[in-house]
Amino acid sequence: MLSRRNFISAAATMAAALPLRTGPAFGAETSATRPLKDIAKEAGLLYGAAIDSRVLRQDPALAALVAREAGIVVAESETKRGTVQPSPSRYNFAPTDELLRVAGRNSQDMRGHTLIWHESVPPWLSQSLSEAPKESLITDYIKVVAGRYRGRFHSWDVVNEPVAPDDGAADGMRISSPWQKAFGENYIDLAFHSAREADPDAPLFLNELNLEPDVRWGEKRRKAFLNLLDRLIKRNVPINGIGIEAHIKPFRFAYTQDVFSSFLNELSSRGLKILITEFDVADIEGPADPAERDKLVAEAATSFLDVAFANQATLGCLTWGLSDKYSWLSRYKDYQWPDRQLSRGLPFDYKMDAKPLAAAIAQAYQKRTQPKG
Ligand code: G3I
Repeated sequence: MLSRRNFISAAATMAAALPLRTGPAFGAETSATRPLKDIAKEAGLLYGAAIDSRVLRQDPALAALVAREAGIVVAESETKRGTVQPSPSRYNFAPTDELLRVAGRNSQDMRGHTLIWHESVPPWLSQSLSEAPKESLITDYIKVVAGRYRGRFHSWDVVNEPVAPDDGAADGMRISSPWQKAFGENYIDLAFHSAREADPDAPLFLNELNLEPDVRWGEKRRKAFLNLLDRLIKRNVPINGIGIEAHIKPFRFAYTQDVFSSFLNELSSRGLKILITEFDVADIEGPADPAERDKLVAEAATSFLDVAFANQATLGCLTWGLSDKYSWLSRYKDYQWPDRQLSRGLPFDYKMDAKPLAAAIAQAYQKRTQPKG
């Protein structure tokens, strides 16, 4: 596994309650017999998953799957500001601490996600940002939180999802974000500098969504993101890596390997590391037959991960969960199936059995392991 040091030096519940239509179970020998984290490690890469403290507590089968498969974990919600600072004077570290303990017991690394995100702004903060925005609303928080976990996280997603060309700004920045409204783009600089100060050795990531679709708005997004990076780099903002969320939507948007590959080359040529941070496959609008859909989902993953792992700056991949039973895709209205069946966008099904997607992920790592002939 790549350690922090090496990195630096190298530069549910709701879904479970629904009546389920889950389809047949599919064995995927590769990962049913060998953990994905081991297969990834042999390729010199990471494999991990997002986890939820409540689900881990309540479902021993999921907890066992996480322990077996993931080399690195990230909290799906617990380290976001809405949870960590529900009021100005109250910090709630208990859920993150609990997950760190679990990760420690499993000998897993853990990532920090996320210090600044427009979607996790508690009401008191939202009010302060609109009425009396002070830089200390960024800097003090990051000093406290990144300082508390100094040296303990593999890396931090410092800022999440800063770009949104659909918002209409000429530079493609997310002008609907309360952070962007209050400080302009400077909020990103402030956040990264504060994180660097609070946790000097932590690799610091800028995490972004929807960077892979080969559609006109995707092109705008990639361009805006690269332009932002160039400005940040010019201003010496201490950014080490890019998180590619990769909630891929193969039945909704076109995807072209060359386009995605060129984009990743743009990132690595700027000296940045790449991590696939939230991989899953939104299977909505795919074929209704689960077997047919599983096959296409696995093919989409192969097409995506082959490109991601071909770039030598890529550190690995985390899936946004492990089992379909708890996937956010089944809770989020845009991706829900009208007949209330579960999404099949994660490597393991609702019974924790491996699906073709698990085999596709394993094979993508194995291709990187094999020397090119
Ligand atoms: O923990 C509370 C629980 O106490 C309460 O009873 C329940 C009632 O709704 O809510 C629970 O909190 C929910 C939390 O997930 C834990 O399940 C929040 O309402 C819900 O908003 C939250 O959603 C998460 C969302 O981020 C917002 O934080 C999703 O699970 C999580 O998958 C999603 O993750 C994001 C990434 O951080 C960034 N990229 C996109 C990705 C998907 O939207």
